[in-house]
Amino acid sequence: MSTSNDGWGSRVGLILAMAGNAVGLGNFLRFPVKAVENGGGTFIIPYLVSFLVMGIPLLWVEWSMGRFGGKFGDHSTPFILDNITKKRIWKYFGVFGIFTNLGVMAYYTYIESWTLTYTLKSLKGDFSGKKIDEVGVMFDQYVDIGAASGINFPIWALVAFVITLCLNIYILSRGLNDGIEKVAKFAMPLLIIFGAFLAIKAVFLGSTGNCADCDSHIGLNFLWEPHYETLWDPKVWLEAAGQIFFTLSVGMGTIQCYSSYLKSKDDVALNAMSAGWMNGFVEIVLGASVVIPIAVGYMGLDWVKENAGFMMAFKTMPYLFDQWGPTMSVISGVAWFGLLFFAGITSSLAMGTPWMGFMKDEFKWSNNKSAWTLGLLLFFMALPTIFFFEKGVFDEYDYWTGTVSLVIFAFAEVILFAWVFGIDNAWEEITRGADMKVPGFYKYILKFVTPVFIGVILFTSLFKPKDWASPFKREGGWNWADDSIINQIFHLNNEVIWFSEHGATNMFYIDMSRVFLLAIFIGLCALVKIASNKRKKAKLANS
Ligand code: ALA
Repeated sequence: MSTSNDGWGSRVGLILAMAGNAVGLGNFLRFPVKAVENGGGTFIIPYLVSFLVMGIPLLWVEWSMGRFGGKFGDHSTPFILDNITKKRIWKYFGVFGIFTNLGVMAYYTYIESWTLTYTLKSLKGDFSGKKIDEVGVMFDQYVDIGAASGINFPIWALVAFVITLCLNIYILSRGLNDGIEKVAKFAMPLLIIFGAFLAIKAVFLGSTGNCADCDSHIGLNFLWEPHYETLWDPKVWLEAAGQIFFTLSVGMGTIQCYSSYLKSKDDVALNAMSAGWMNGFVEIVLGASVVIPIAVGYMGLDWVKENAGFMMAFKTMPYLFDQWGPTMSVISGVAWFGLLFFAGITSSLAMGTPWMGFMKDEFKWSNNKSAWTLGLLLFFMALPTIFFFEKGVFDEYDYWTGTVSLVIFAFAEVILFAWVFGIDNAWEEITRGADMKVPGFYKYILKFVTPVFIGVILFTSLFKPKDWASPFKREGGWNWADDSIINQIFHLNNEVIWFSEHGATNMFYIDMSRVFLLAIFIGLCALVKIASNKRKKAKLANS
Protein backbone atom coordinates (compact mmCIF):
# COMPACT_ATOMS: atom_id res chain seq x y z
CA MET A 1 0.00 0.00 0.00
CA SER A 2 1.15 3.48 -0.75
CA THR A 3 2.37 5.54 2.16
CA SER A 4 1.85 8.91 0.53
CA ASN A 5 -0.90 11.26 1.66
CA ASP A 6 -3.07 9.69 -1.04
CA GLY A 7 -2.94 6.17 0.31
CA TRP A 8 -3.44 4.06 3.41
CA GLY A 9 -0.52 3.64 5.76
CA SER A 10 -1.46 0.24 7.15
CA ARG A 11 -4.10 -2.45 6.95
CA VAL A 12 -5.23 -1.78 10.52
CA GLY A 13 -5.60 1.89 9.64
CA LEU A 14 -7.65 1.07 6.56
CA ILE A 15 -9.99 -1.27 8.46
CA LEU A 16 -10.44 1.20 11.30
CA ALA A 17 -11.14 4.01 8.82
CA MET A 18 -13.66 1.84 6.95
CA ALA A 19 -15.27 0.74 10.22
CA GLY A 20 -15.27 4.38 11.30
CA ASN A 21 -17.04 5.26 8.06
CA ALA A 22 -19.77 2.76 8.93
CA VAL A 23 -19.96 3.22 12.71
CA GLY A 24 -21.70 6.52 13.16
CA LEU A 25 -24.60 8.34 14.71
CA GLY A 26 -26.79 5.76 12.99
CA ASN A 27 -25.49 3.00 15.30
CA PHE A 28 -26.30 4.81 18.53
CA LEU A 29 -29.19 7.11 17.64
CA ARG A 30 -30.98 5.68 14.60
CA PHE A 31 -30.74 1.93 15.26
CA PRO A 32 -32.23 1.85 18.80
CA VAL A 33 -35.08 4.14 17.78
CA LYS A 34 -35.89 2.11 14.65
CA ALA A 35 -35.79 -1.05 16.75
CA VAL A 36 -38.24 0.38 19.32
CA GLU A 37 -40.56 1.69 16.60
CA ASN A 38 -40.58 -1.68 14.87
CA GLY A 39 -41.36 -4.07 17.68
CA GLY A 40 -38.01 -4.41 19.48
CA GLY A 41 -36.59 -7.91 18.99
CA THR A 42 -38.76 -8.39 15.90
CA PHE A 43 -36.56 -5.90 14.11
CA ILE A 44 -33.39 -7.96 14.62
CA ILE A 45 -34.49 -10.80 12.28
CA PRO A 46 -35.15 -8.72 9.12
CA TYR A 47 -32.11 -6.66 10.07
CA LEU A 48 -29.84 -9.72 10.07
CA VAL A 49 -31.40 -11.15 6.91
CA SER A 50 -30.89 -7.80 5.14
CA PHE A 51 -27.30 -7.75 6.36
CA LEU A 52 -26.61 -11.24 5.01
CA VAL A 53 -28.29 -11.01 1.60
CA MET A 54 -27.83 -7.32 0.86
CA GLY A 55 -25.29 -5.73 3.20
CA ILE A 56 -22.47 -8.25 2.75
CA PRO A 57 -22.79 -8.50 -1.06
CA LEU A 58 -22.92 -4.72 -1.36
CA LEU A 59 -19.81 -4.39 0.79
CA TRP A 60 -17.96 -6.76 -1.50
CA VAL A 61 -19.27 -5.02 -4.62
CA GLU A 62 -18.26 -1.57 -3.40
CA TRP A 63 -14.83 -2.57 -2.08
CA SER A 64 -14.02 -4.38 -5.34
CA MET A 65 -15.41 -1.64 -7.56
CA GLY A 66 -13.33 0.93 -5.75
CA ARG A 67 -10.13 -1.12 -6.01
CA PHE A 68 -10.90 -1.71 -9.71
CA GLY A 69 -11.38 2.04 -10.35
CA GLY A 70 -8.19 2.83 -8.43
CA LYS A 71 -6.21 0.83 -10.99
CA PHE A 72 -7.15 3.52 -13.54
CA GLY A 73 -6.45 6.35 -11.11
CA ASP A 74 -10.14 7.05 -10.37
CA HIS A 75 -11.28 7.83 -6.84
CA SER A 76 -14.93 8.81 -7.13
CA THR A 77 -17.93 6.87 -8.37
CA PRO A 78 -18.70 8.69 -11.68
CA PHE A 79 -15.48 7.49 -13.29
CA ILE A 80 -15.17 4.31 -11.24
CA LEU A 81 -18.50 3.26 -12.80
CA ASP A 82 -17.37 4.55 -16.18
CA ASN A 83 -14.43 2.12 -16.12
CA ILE A 84 -16.66 -0.86 -15.61
CA THR A 85 -18.66 -0.44 -18.82
CA LYS A 86 -18.39 1.20 -22.22
CA LYS A 87 -21.91 2.68 -21.85
CA ARG A 88 -21.29 6.34 -21.05
CA ILE A 89 -24.58 6.87 -19.22
CA TRP A 90 -23.48 4.95 -16.11
CA LYS A 91 -21.15 7.68 -14.97
CA TYR A 92 -24.21 9.83 -14.30
CA PHE A 93 -25.48 7.22 -11.84
CA GLY A 94 -22.09 7.67 -10.22
CA VAL A 95 -23.08 11.28 -9.46
CA PHE A 96 -25.21 9.84 -6.63
CA GLY A 97 -21.96 8.75 -5.00
CA ILE A 98 -20.93 12.40 -4.59
CA PHE A 99 -24.34 14.00 -4.18
CA THR A 100 -25.43 11.71 -1.31
CA ASN A 101 -22.33 12.53 0.65
CA LEU A 102 -22.70 16.28 0.24
CA GLY A 103 -26.35 16.16 1.32
CA VAL A 104 -25.81 13.85 4.27
CA MET A 105 -22.59 15.52 5.42
CA ALA A 106 -24.36 18.90 5.50
CA TYR A 107 -26.92 17.87 8.13
CA TYR A 108 -24.82 15.16 9.74
CA THR A 109 -22.05 17.62 10.67
CA TYR A 110 -24.72 19.79 12.28
CA ILE A 111 -25.76 16.90 14.59
CA GLU A 112 -22.09 16.15 15.17
CA SER A 113 -21.65 19.72 16.39
CA TRP A 114 -24.43 19.20 18.96
CA THR A 115 -22.51 16.24 20.36
CA LEU A 116 -19.36 18.39 20.66
CA THR A 117 -21.28 21.10 22.53
CA TYR A 118 -22.97 18.54 24.76
CA THR A 119 -19.61 16.93 25.63
CA LEU A 120 -18.46 20.33 26.89
CA LYS A 121 -21.76 20.98 28.68
CA SER A 122 -21.48 17.60 30.43
CA LEU A 123 -17.91 18.40 31.46
CA LYS A 124 -19.07 21.71 32.92
CA GLY A 125 -21.86 19.98 34.83
CA ASP A 126 -24.56 22.08 33.11
CA PHE A 127 -27.22 19.39 33.59
CA SER A 128 -26.63 18.94 37.29
CA GLY A 129 -29.86 19.01 39.33
CA LYS A 130 -32.04 19.77 36.28
CA LYS A 131 -35.48 18.17 35.83
CA ILE A 132 -36.13 16.19 32.65
CA ASP A 133 -38.28 19.00 31.21
CA GLU A 134 -35.59 21.55 31.91
CA VAL A 135 -33.00 19.44 30.08
CA GLY A 136 -35.44 19.24 27.14
CA VAL A 137 -35.92 23.01 27.16
CA MET A 138 -32.14 23.53 27.21
CA PHE A 139 -31.88 21.56 23.99
CA ASP A 140 -34.79 23.41 22.36
CA GLN A 141 -33.13 26.70 23.23
CA TYR A 142 -29.81 25.48 21.89
CA VAL A 143 -31.26 24.74 18.44
CA ASP A 144 -33.83 27.55 18.80
CA ILE A 145 -36.86 25.26 18.49
CA GLY A 146 -40.11 27.13 19.09
CA ALA A 147 -38.81 30.52 17.86
CA ALA A 148 -41.70 33.00 17.59
CA SER A 149 -40.88 33.74 13.93
CA GLY A 150 -40.95 30.04 13.06
CA ILE A 151 -37.43 30.46 11.62
CA ASN A 152 -34.63 29.08 13.79
CA PHE A 153 -31.60 31.25 14.42
CA PRO A 154 -29.50 29.27 16.91
CA ILE A 155 -26.41 31.44 17.17
CA TRP A 156 -24.34 29.12 19.43
CA ALA A 157 -25.33 26.04 17.48
CA LEU A 158 -24.24 27.86 14.34
CA VAL A 159 -20.85 28.71 15.87
CA ALA A 160 -20.40 25.08 17.02
CA PHE A 161 -21.34 23.89 13.55
CA VAL A 162 -18.73 26.10 11.88
CA ILE A 163 -16.06 24.88 14.34
CA THR A 164 -17.01 21.23 13.71
CA LEU A 165 -17.05 21.74 9.97
CA CYS A 166 -13.62 23.43 10.03
CA LEU A 167 -12.24 20.56 12.11
CA ASN A 168 -13.52 18.06 9.52
CA ILE A 169 -12.10 20.08 6.67
CA TYR A 170 -8.74 20.53 8.35
CA ILE A 171 -8.44 16.75 8.90
CA LEU A 172 -9.49 16.10 5.30
CA SER A 173 -6.93 18.56 4.02
CA ARG A 174 -4.21 16.49 5.75
CA GLY A 175 -4.99 13.54 3.46
CA LEU A 176 -5.86 9.90 4.07
CA ASN A 177 -2.79 8.70 5.87
CA ASP A 178 -2.00 11.81 7.89
CA GLY A 179 -5.58 12.86 8.57
CA ILE A 180 -8.36 10.30 8.38
CA GLU A 181 -6.30 7.25 9.31
CA LYS A 182 -4.75 8.91 12.36
CA VAL A 183 -8.16 10.04 13.61
CA ALA A 184 -9.66 6.57 13.08
CA LYS A 185 -6.84 4.87 15.00
CA PHE A 186 -7.47 7.11 17.95
CA ALA A 187 -11.26 7.54 17.80
CA MET A 188 -12.40 3.97 17.16
CA PRO A 189 -10.83 2.28 20.22
CA LEU A 190 -11.92 5.16 22.44
CA LEU A 191 -15.45 4.97 21.09
CA ILE A 192 -15.63 1.24 21.87
CA ILE A 193 -14.30 1.79 25.40
CA PHE A 194 -16.88 4.55 26.05
CA GLY A 195 -19.67 2.40 24.58
CA ALA A 196 -18.65 -0.66 26.61
CA PHE A 197 -18.55 1.43 29.80
CA LEU A 198 -22.10 2.73 29.23
CA ALA A 199 -23.40 -0.70 28.20
CA ILE A 200 -22.01 -2.23 31.41
CA LYS A 201 -23.67 0.56 33.44
CA ALA A 202 -26.95 -0.23 31.68
CA VAL A 203 -26.70 -3.98 32.30
CA PHE A 204 -26.00 -3.46 36.01
CA LEU A 205 -28.65 -0.77 36.42
CA GLY A 206 -31.53 -3.26 36.73
CA SER A 207 -34.64 -2.02 38.53
CA THR A 208 -34.60 1.57 39.83
CA GLY A 209 -37.99 1.34 41.52
CA ASN A 210 -39.17 4.56 39.80
CA CYS A 211 -42.14 2.68 38.35
CA ALA A 212 -43.37 -0.92 38.11
CA ASP A 213 -41.49 -1.66 34.87
CA CYS A 214 -38.58 0.74 35.42
CA ASP A 215 -35.91 -1.88 34.86
CA SER A 216 -33.06 -1.77 32.34
CA HIS A 217 -33.39 -5.55 31.86
CA ILE A 218 -36.92 -5.04 30.53
CA GLY A 219 -35.42 -2.68 27.94
CA LEU A 220 -32.72 -5.19 27.02
CA ASN A 221 -35.25 -8.03 26.75
CA PHE A 222 -37.50 -5.90 24.59
CA LEU A 223 -34.68 -5.31 22.11
CA TRP A 224 -33.39 -8.87 22.10
CA GLU A 225 -36.43 -11.16 22.33
CA PRO A 226 -37.84 -11.88 18.87
CA HIS A 227 -41.64 -11.61 18.48
CA TYR A 228 -42.54 -13.55 15.39
CA GLU A 229 -46.06 -12.16 14.98
CA THR A 230 -44.95 -8.90 13.33
CA LEU A 231 -42.29 -10.57 11.22
CA TRP A 232 -44.47 -10.47 8.10
CA ASP A 233 -45.10 -6.75 8.28
CA PRO A 234 -43.43 -5.23 5.15
CA LYS A 235 -42.92 -1.96 7.03
CA VAL A 236 -40.56 -3.69 9.47
CA TRP A 237 -38.58 -5.14 6.55
CA LEU A 238 -38.33 -1.80 4.78
CA GLU A 239 -37.13 -0.09 7.93
CA ALA A 240 -34.60 -2.85 8.65
CA ALA A 241 -33.20 -2.76 5.11
CA GLY A 242 -33.07 1.07 5.26
CA GLN A 243 -31.07 0.83 8.48
CA ILE A 244 -28.60 -1.58 6.84
CA PHE A 245 -27.99 0.93 4.05
CA PHE A 246 -27.44 3.82 6.41
CA THR A 247 -25.38 2.02 9.00
CA LEU A 248 -23.02 0.25 6.59
CA SER A 249 -22.77 3.40 4.44
CA VAL A 250 -23.49 1.28 1.37
CA GLY A 251 -25.02 2.98 -1.66
CA MET A 252 -23.18 6.17 -0.67
CA GLY A 253 -19.94 6.12 -2.64
CA THR A 254 -17.64 6.45 0.37
CA ILE A 255 -16.52 2.80 0.41
CA GLN A 256 -15.55 2.91 -3.28
CA CYS A 257 -13.57 6.07 -2.66
CA TYR A 258 -11.67 4.60 0.32
CA SER A 259 -10.94 1.31 -1.44
CA SER A 260 -9.79 3.03 -4.63
CA TYR A 261 -6.54 3.72 -2.76
CA LEU A 262 -5.84 -0.02 -2.44
CA LYS A 263 -3.41 -1.89 -4.68
CA SER A 264 -4.93 -4.23 -7.25
CA LYS A 265 -3.80 -7.35 -5.37
CA ASP A 266 -4.78 -6.17 -1.87
CA ASP A 267 -7.48 -8.20 -0.17
CA VAL A 268 -11.01 -6.81 -0.25
CA ALA A 269 -13.05 -9.83 0.90
CA LEU A 270 -11.73 -10.13 4.46
CA ASN A 271 -11.22 -6.40 4.93
CA ALA A 272 -14.84 -5.76 3.96
CA MET A 273 -16.03 -8.43 6.40
CA SER A 274 -13.88 -7.08 9.24
CA ALA A 275 -15.24 -3.56 8.85
CA GLY A 276 -18.83 -4.77 8.30
CA TRP A 277 -18.91 -7.08 11.32
CA MET A 278 -17.21 -4.51 13.52
CA ASN A 279 -20.03 -2.14 12.60
CA GLY A 280 -22.58 -4.86 13.39
CA PHE A 281 -21.02 -5.48 16.78
CA VAL A 282 -21.03 -1.78 17.68
CA GLU A 283 -24.62 -1.42 16.50
CA ILE A 284 -26.32 -4.52 17.87
CA VAL A 285 -24.29 -5.05 21.01
CA LEU A 286 -23.31 -1.53 22.07
CA GLY A 287 -25.91 0.60 20.27
CA ALA A 288 -28.77 -1.50 21.63
CA SER A 289 -27.39 -1.53 25.17
CA VAL A 290 -27.19 2.15 26.01
CA VAL A 291 -30.05 4.60 25.31
CA ILE A 292 -33.04 2.29 25.48
CA PRO A 293 -32.14 0.11 28.50
CA ILE A 294 -31.03 3.11 30.58
CA ALA A 295 -34.15 5.07 29.62
CA VAL A 296 -36.41 2.08 30.40
CA GLY A 297 -34.58 1.73 33.74
CA TYR A 298 -35.77 5.18 34.83
CA MET A 299 -38.85 5.94 32.75
CA GLY A 300 -40.39 2.54 31.94
CA LEU A 301 -40.97 0.80 28.62
CA ASP A 302 -44.25 2.56 27.77
CA TRP A 303 -42.69 5.98 28.17
CA VAL A 304 -39.77 4.95 25.95
CA LYS A 305 -42.09 3.55 23.27
CA GLU A 306 -44.01 6.81 23.23
CA ASN A 307 -41.00 9.12 23.29
CA ALA A 308 -38.45 7.20 21.23
CA GLY A 309 -36.68 9.56 18.85
CA PHE A 310 -33.12 10.54 18.16
CA MET A 311 -33.57 13.72 20.25
CA MET A 312 -33.69 11.46 23.32
CA ALA A 313 -29.91 11.41 23.17
CA PHE A 314 -29.85 15.12 23.98
CA LYS A 315 -33.15 15.71 25.79
CA THR A 316 -33.27 12.67 28.05
CA MET A 317 -29.85 11.09 28.51
CA PRO A 318 -28.21 14.00 30.42
CA TYR A 319 -31.08 13.87 32.93
CA LEU A 320 -30.71 10.10 33.35
CA PHE A 321 -26.93 10.34 33.83
CA ASP A 322 -27.56 12.95 36.53
CA GLN A 323 -29.32 10.24 38.58
CA TRP A 324 -25.90 8.58 38.97
CA GLY A 325 -24.48 11.36 41.14
CA PRO A 326 -22.28 14.36 40.30
CA THR A 327 -19.04 12.58 39.36
CA MET A 328 -20.56 9.67 37.47
CA SER A 329 -22.91 11.99 35.58
CA VAL A 330 -19.93 13.99 34.25
CA ILE A 331 -18.04 10.81 33.30
CA SER A 332 -21.09 9.26 31.64
CA GLY A 333 -22.05 12.46 29.83
CA VAL A 334 -18.54 12.85 28.44
CA ALA A 335 -18.44 9.15 27.48
CA TRP A 336 -21.85 9.35 25.76
CA PHE A 337 -21.45 12.58 23.83
CA GLY A 338 -17.75 11.90 23.26
CA LEU A 339 -18.56 8.55 21.69
CA LEU A 340 -21.23 10.16 19.52
CA PHE A 341 -18.75 12.79 18.42
CA PHE A 342 -16.10 10.21 17.50
CA ALA A 343 -18.69 8.02 15.77
CA GLY A 344 -19.93 11.06 13.86
CA ILE A 345 -16.60 12.51 12.78
CA THR A 346 -15.16 9.22 11.48
CA SER A 347 -18.26 8.96 9.24
CA SER A 348 -18.41 12.59 8.13
CA LEU A 349 -14.73 12.50 7.16
CA ALA A 350 -15.50 9.58 4.84
CA MET A 351 -18.36 11.57 3.30
CA GLY A 352 -15.96 14.35 2.40
CA THR A 353 -13.62 12.14 0.38
CA PRO A 354 -15.65 11.46 -2.81
CA TRP A 355 -15.88 15.18 -3.64
CA MET A 356 -12.18 15.59 -2.96
CA GLY A 357 -11.26 12.51 -5.00
CA PHE A 358 -13.31 13.83 -7.91
CA MET A 359 -11.90 17.36 -7.88
CA LYS A 360 -8.33 16.13 -7.48
CA ASP A 361 -8.62 13.54 -10.27
CA GLU A 362 -10.53 15.62 -12.79
CA PHE A 363 -9.48 19.21 -12.16
CA LYS A 364 -6.06 18.56 -10.61
CA TRP A 365 -6.96 20.49 -7.48
CA SER A 366 -4.72 20.16 -4.43
CA ASN A 367 -5.87 18.45 -1.25
CA ASN A 368 -6.20 21.82 0.44
CA LYS A 369 -8.22 23.42 -2.33
CA SER A 370 -10.60 20.46 -2.64
CA ALA A 371 -11.07 20.31 1.13
CA TRP A 372 -11.77 23.99 1.71
CA THR A 373 -14.13 24.31 -1.27
CA LEU A 374 -15.97 21.33 0.16
CA GLY A 375 -16.21 23.22 3.45
CA LEU A 376 -17.67 26.26 1.72
CA LEU A 377 -20.17 24.20 -0.25
CA LEU A 378 -21.27 22.32 2.86
CA PHE A 379 -21.63 25.52 4.83
CA PHE A 380 -24.17 26.84 2.33
CA MET A 381 -25.89 23.48 1.99
CA ALA A 382 -26.29 23.17 5.76
CA LEU A 383 -27.74 26.63 6.37
CA PRO A 384 -31.30 25.72 5.26
CA THR A 385 -31.28 22.68 7.59
CA ILE A 386 -30.27 24.95 10.48
CA PHE A 387 -32.52 27.94 9.87
CA PHE A 388 -35.53 25.98 8.61
CA PHE A 389 -35.11 23.01 10.92
CA GLU A 390 -38.67 23.24 12.18
CA LYS A 391 -40.05 23.73 8.69
CA GLY A 392 -39.01 20.16 7.92
CA VAL A 393 -35.95 20.93 5.78
CA PHE A 394 -33.60 18.86 7.95
CA ASP A 395 -35.85 15.79 7.56
CA GLU A 396 -36.14 16.49 3.85
CA TYR A 397 -32.38 16.27 3.38
CA ASP A 398 -32.36 13.02 5.35
CA TYR A 399 -35.19 11.60 3.26
CA TRP A 400 -33.71 12.32 -0.18
CA THR A 401 -29.99 12.17 0.41
CA GLY A 402 -29.84 9.81 3.42
CA THR A 403 -32.54 7.34 2.35
CA VAL A 404 -33.83 7.40 -1.25
CA SER A 405 -30.50 8.13 -2.98
CA LEU A 406 -28.78 5.20 -1.29
CA VAL A 407 -31.31 2.68 -2.56
CA ILE A 408 -31.28 4.05 -6.13
CA PHE A 409 -27.50 4.02 -6.31
CA ALA A 410 -27.13 0.58 -4.70
CA PHE A 411 -29.65 -0.86 -7.17
CA ALA A 412 -27.79 0.66 -10.12
CA GLU A 413 -24.35 -0.47 -8.96
CA VAL A 414 -25.36 -4.05 -8.22
CA ILE A 415 -26.96 -4.37 -11.68
CA LEU A 416 -23.89 -2.83 -13.24
CA PHE A 417 -21.44 -5.05 -11.41
CA ALA A 418 -23.25 -8.39 -11.43
CA TRP A 419 -24.98 -8.12 -14.82
CA VAL A 420 -23.30 -5.55 -17.06
CA PHE A 421 -19.71 -6.20 -15.94
CA GLY A 422 -20.79 -9.83 -15.58
CA ILE A 423 -20.91 -12.10 -12.56
CA ASP A 424 -17.70 -13.96 -13.52
CA ASN A 425 -15.71 -10.73 -13.75
CA ALA A 426 -17.36 -9.52 -10.57
CA TRP A 427 -16.47 -12.73 -8.75
CA GLU A 428 -12.90 -12.55 -9.98
CA GLU A 429 -12.64 -8.99 -8.62
CA ILE A 430 -14.08 -9.96 -5.22
CA THR A 431 -11.91 -13.04 -4.75
CA ARG A 432 -8.61 -11.72 -6.17
CA GLY A 433 -6.07 -11.47 -3.34
CA ALA A 434 -8.72 -12.60 -0.86
CA ASP A 435 -7.44 -13.54 2.58
CA MET A 436 -10.56 -15.61 3.24
CA LYS A 437 -12.54 -18.21 1.36
CA VAL A 438 -15.54 -16.36 -0.04
CA PRO A 439 -18.50 -18.82 0.13
CA GLY A 440 -19.35 -19.88 -3.43
CA PHE A 441 -23.10 -19.52 -2.92
CA TYR A 442 -22.58 -15.76 -2.61
CA LYS A 443 -22.02 -15.69 -6.37
CA TYR A 444 -25.68 -16.60 -6.82
CA ILE A 445 -26.85 -14.37 -4.00
CA LEU A 446 -25.04 -11.46 -5.66
CA LYS A 447 -26.43 -12.23 -9.09
CA PHE A 448 -30.05 -12.94 -8.17
CA VAL A 449 -31.02 -12.35 -4.56
CA THR A 450 -29.35 -8.99 -3.90
CA PRO A 451 -30.69 -7.20 -7.02
CA VAL A 452 -34.20 -8.59 -6.43
CA PHE A 453 -34.05 -7.68 -2.75
CA ILE A 454 -32.97 -4.08 -3.47
CA GLY A 455 -35.41 -3.85 -6.41
CA VAL A 456 -38.29 -4.83 -4.13
CA ILE A 457 -37.20 -2.26 -1.55
CA LEU A 458 -37.04 0.43 -4.24
CA PHE A 459 -40.39 -0.53 -5.73
CA THR A 460 -42.18 -0.75 -2.39
CA SER A 461 -40.64 2.55 -1.25
CA LEU A 462 -41.99 4.14 -4.43
CA PHE A 463 -45.51 2.82 -4.04
CA LYS A 464 -45.74 2.22 -0.30
CA PRO A 465 -49.33 2.14 1.07
CA LYS A 466 -50.24 3.77 4.36
CA ASP A 467 -51.69 0.55 5.64
CA TRP A 468 -50.21 -2.69 4.34
CA ALA A 469 -53.16 -4.70 5.67
CA SER A 470 -55.68 -2.82 3.51
CA PRO A 471 -53.89 -0.78 0.86
CA PHE A 472 -57.10 0.18 -0.96
CA LYS A 473 -58.80 1.60 2.13
CA ARG A 474 -58.71 5.19 0.89
CA GLU A 475 -61.70 6.18 -1.16
CA GLY A 476 -60.89 6.37 -4.84
CA GLY A 477 -57.81 4.21 -4.86
CA TRP A 478 -54.51 3.24 -3.35
CA ASN A 479 -53.83 4.44 0.15
CA TRP A 480 -50.38 6.13 -0.22
CA ALA A 481 -48.06 6.29 2.74
CA ASP A 482 -46.96 9.86 3.44
CA ASP A 483 -43.33 8.82 2.99
CA SER A 484 -43.87 6.83 -0.22
CA ILE A 485 -41.61 8.38 -2.86
CA ILE A 486 -44.50 8.94 -5.23
CA ASN A 487 -46.49 10.85 -2.62
CA GLN A 488 -43.44 12.87 -1.68
CA ILE A 489 -42.87 13.93 -5.28
CA PHE A 490 -46.46 14.66 -6.27
CA HIS A 491 -47.95 15.58 -2.88
CA LEU A 492 -50.77 13.11 -3.51
CA ASN A 493 -51.97 13.10 0.09
CA ASN A 494 -52.02 16.88 0.52
CA GLU A 495 -53.09 19.88 -1.47
CA VAL A 496 -50.16 22.02 -2.62
CA ILE A 497 -50.32 25.23 -0.59
CA TRP A 498 -47.20 27.38 -0.57
CA PHE A 499 -48.63 30.47 1.07
CA SER A 500 -51.33 31.02 3.66
CA GLU A 501 -52.44 34.13 5.56
CA HIS A 502 -49.49 33.45 7.94
CA GLY A 503 -46.94 33.58 5.12
CA ALA A 504 -44.97 30.76 3.48
CA THR A 505 -46.06 27.27 4.53
CA ASN A 506 -43.80 24.38 5.54
CA MET A 507 -44.55 22.85 2.14
CA PHE A 508 -42.99 25.89 0.49
CA TYR A 509 -39.74 25.48 2.45
CA ILE A 510 -39.70 21.75 1.78
CA ASP A 511 -40.27 22.17 -1.95
CA MET A 512 -37.62 24.89 -2.17
CA SER A 513 -35.12 22.65 -0.39
CA ARG A 514 -35.86 19.98 -3.01
CA VAL A 515 -35.23 22.45 -5.82
CA PHE A 516 -31.95 23.35 -4.12
CA LEU A 517 -30.89 19.69 -3.80
CA LEU A 518 -31.89 19.04 -7.41
CA ALA A 519 -29.81 22.04 -8.52
CA ILE A 520 -26.80 20.57 -6.66
CA PHE A 521 -27.37 17.23 -8.39
CA ILE A 522 -27.60 18.87 -11.82
CA GLY A 523 -24.50 20.95 -11.04
CA LEU A 524 -22.59 17.76 -10.25
CA CYS A 525 -23.79 16.17 -13.50
CA ALA A 526 -22.48 19.23 -15.35
CA LEU A 527 -19.08 18.85 -13.64
CA VAL A 528 -18.98 15.19 -14.68
CA LYS A 529 -19.79 16.20 -18.26
CA ILE A 530 -17.01 18.83 -18.25
CA ALA A 531 -14.58 16.27 -16.80
CA SER A 532 -15.58 13.72 -19.40
CA ASN A 533 -15.00 16.22 -22.23
CA LYS A 534 -11.59 17.07 -20.79
CA ARG A 535 -10.71 13.37 -20.74
CA LYS A 536 -11.79 12.99 -24.37
CA LYS A 537 -9.68 15.97 -25.43
CA ALA A 538 -6.66 14.67 -23.55
CA LYS A 539 -7.08 11.27 -25.17
CA LEU A 540 -7.27 12.82 -28.65
CA ALA A 541 -4.22 14.94 -27.97
CA ASN A 542 -2.27 11.85 -26.88
CA SER A 543 -3.30 9.73 -29.84
N1 ALA B 1 -22.89 4.85 8.50
C1 ALA B 1 -22.99 6.10 9.13
C2 ALA B 1 -23.85 6.04 10.34
O1 ALA B 1 -24.28 4.99 10.76
C3 ALA B 1 -23.49 7.12 8.15
O2 ALA B 1 -24.11 7.02 10.93
